[in-house]
Amino acid sequence: MAEAKIIDGKAFAEGLRARVGAAAAALKAQHGLVPGLATVLVGDDPASHVYVRNKNTQTVAAGMQSFHHPLPATTSQAELLALIAQLNADPAVHGILVQLPLPKQIDTDSVIAAIDPAKDVDGFHLINVGKLAAGIGGGAVPCTPMGCLMLLKDALGDLSGKSAVVVGRSNIVGKPMAHLLLGESCTVTIAHSRTKNLPEVCRQADILVAAVGRPLMIQGDWIKPGAAVIDVGINRVPGAEAGKSKLVGDVDFAAAMKVAGFITPVPGGVGPMTIACLLRSTLLAACAIHGLPAPSL
Ligand code: GUN
Repeated sequence: MAEAKIIDGKAFAEGLRARVGAAAAALKAQHGLVPGLATVLVGDDPASHVYVRNKNTQTVAAGMQSFHHPLPATTSQAELLALIAQLNADPAVHGILVQLPLPKQIDTDSVIAAIDPAKDVDGFHLINVGKLAAGIGGGAVPCTPMGCLMLLKDALGDLSGKSAVVVGRSNIVGKPMAHLLLGESCTVTIAHSRTKNLPEVCRQADILVAAVGRPLMIQGDWIKPGAAVIDVGINRVPGAEAGKSKLVGDVDFAAAMKVAGFITPVPGGVGPMTIACLLRSTLLAACAIHGLPAPSL
């Protein structure tokens, strides 16, 4: 059997960022409107710092405004809620992203609930979670699953009637991914750590989305020949050279290449799509807040 076709998320994300940039330029020229994204980072987790810095750089590169709010790890819940109230009221801010995870003294659910749903570009507020679950359009959708769906539609076209298995049930990826695939008329299974016969369940999938955070868990013989495999995992593991590390996904890529029809690599697959979708959500939020029609992106 031929090797799987590699889904180039890096290239797709570049194209999406360029379309967002063009739409942002048109908004500025026609309406004097510059979309603005506020990022809030509490504490000094090095990986979160890298993610947020990339978000800020790419926001500016797309012609939008970036407002970064780094806060000390000791920030209280009241202080964070006060900042969110200020951002909710700021007309230059159309999107608010509070980087997760938050330190232990802060209740994440209360913080997400305090964000104006119209500015919730992560799609984590219960209003937006509910809209996605109920199949009501217009709400923000979490960025990583949105990016996965775009890659799948680009690779496969119409998804209706396909069997989709999502491994992982997080609120950030697994659950919204399942709702998005249901919205495309897939037959959806959500599998997780308690699922019995996981390899057998995965083998039923025309579309297999791995979002568990366990390096190389999904093996070649768990994959249906010809399936589309989307690997959301970003796991840092020891590299071949002493003292060096490397990134691997949740899927054994080399083995999966021999069985799958399509596969996203790690890095360069789903990862770059997350920020590109965040920029898209920020632009769409700015349009919605100003009563302007959503450009197709
Ligand atoms: N931490 C890991 N992924 C995400 C994400 O998509 N949004 C936010 N806010 N935090 C995250």
